[in-house]
Amino acid sequence: MEKEKLVELAYKASEYSYSPYSHFKVGAALITEDGSVFTGCNVENSSYGATICAERTCALKAVSEGHRKFKMIAVVSGSNEYTYPCGICRQFLSEFMDGDGVILVHDKNKGIKEYTLSEMLPEAFHL
Ligand code: THU
Repeated sequence: MEKEKLVELAYKASEYSYSPYSHFKVGAALITEDGSVFTGCNVENSSYGATICAERTCALKAVSEGHRKFKMIAVVSGSNEYTYPCGICRQFLSEFMDGDGVILVHDKNKGIKEYTLSEMLPEAFHL
């Protein structure tokens, strides 16, 4: 699948964002090694701490349906700047993505930027 398409799916997923506290809508879409695609949005909670980011929603949907090898993930938001995965999500993704797995971020004016997971999370922790 093209990168543009994955970004588009991430935007579509962001429409389902449940973010009544931050009003910050985030969407993610990932593709697995076998070409399956999963999407997710951030889901907030009144306790704040129980909030789940879009990337982890998306990853959990994939893993809970038997897909453990991610090739690429796109992360977008309603803001006018690039939105990067938070530290917890980078670590979470590293469980299911190799260091050369691709993370796409998108800005409506500047377009797609591309990173490898090891660029975003050098020396990732693994047991
Ligand atoms: N958020 C994500 O969904 N992904 C990130 O990588 C960063 C933050 C969400 C969590 C919360 O719902 C909102 O953005 C503001 O922090």
